[in-house]
Amino acid sequence: MTAALPTGKHSEQPVVIFDSGIGGLTVLREVRFKLPFDRLVYVFDDAGFPYGDWDEQPLLDRIVALIGKVIEAHDPKAIIIACNTAFTLAGEALRKTYPNVPFVGTVPAIKPAAARTKSGLISVLATPGTVQRAYTRDLIEAHASGCSVTLVGSQKLAQLAEGHLRGQQVTDEALLAEIEGCFVASDGRRTDIVVLACTHYPFLTNRLREVAPWPVDWIDPAEAIARQLGRVVSASSAPEQGAEINSDEVMCSSGNLSGESLSLMRGFGLVFTGQLPT
Ligand code: DGL
Repeated sequence: MTAALPTGKHSEQPVVIFDSGIGGLTVLREVRFKLPFDRLVYVFDDAGFPYGDWDEQPLLDRIVALIGKVIEAHDPKAIIIACNTAFTLAGEALRKTYPNVPFVGTVPAIKPAAARTKSGLISVLATPGTVQRAYTRDLIEAHASGCSVTLVGSQKLAQLAEGHLRGQQVTDEALLAEIEGCFVASDGRRTDIVVLACTHYPFLTNRLREVAPWPVDWIDPAEAIARQLGRVVSASSAPEQGAEINSDEVMCSSGNLSGESLSLMRGFGLVFTGQLPT
């Protein structure tokens, strides 16, 4: 017999936050501010990471199948796809396949960048997958036709962010090599906005500021994503006094986390509950 769930925030359906790796944690921390009493389950596909180089069809099939398992396991009240590479490819298929689950997506923040630029030169820093997507091209056409947009597909930045967060050394040279394509000067104008279109990158913002050839605004969409979640679902209310509260959870596709990853997840207040059911 299953014990009745305690009253309080954790008896309710959770919000699932999904990414290929640790990038979705940049979104999770904003969700905690906006919906502090909601139970969160962080799910990441470490067995498939990085998503940036995958061919589209196998990646699409993988994400749709994996999210199906997440829905079965957690019956979430909403799922945030906290990954540009995944959502720009699979967002539509996910909404079609699982019409009863509200999805909140992550897409390159091209619209706010176009509204904010003064020089008219903006760059989108993303995985190779995201820069190739038709979705990204459509966003540029719809919202930034008056700007000059440079798409920069970074081969290594997501992995560098993973290493950085786990305490590994990441050199300035390695970072600069990944971002220098974003810095364009033409006709006396210079790029003034770089869109961080991969949820891993905001973990590196301070380092990127240090190595950047000149100052720019770095746009991180995490707060806007958390705000959108607040529009899509109603936030849970504060638990009653004395109610038992379970921790937020993390699961991954490999079922294995290194000691470093475990302590990283603990630092984000997440208890590792193992592998996604297959
Ligand atoms: N965090 C993912 C994104 O927002 C990408 C990381 C990867 O390469 O898998 O695009």
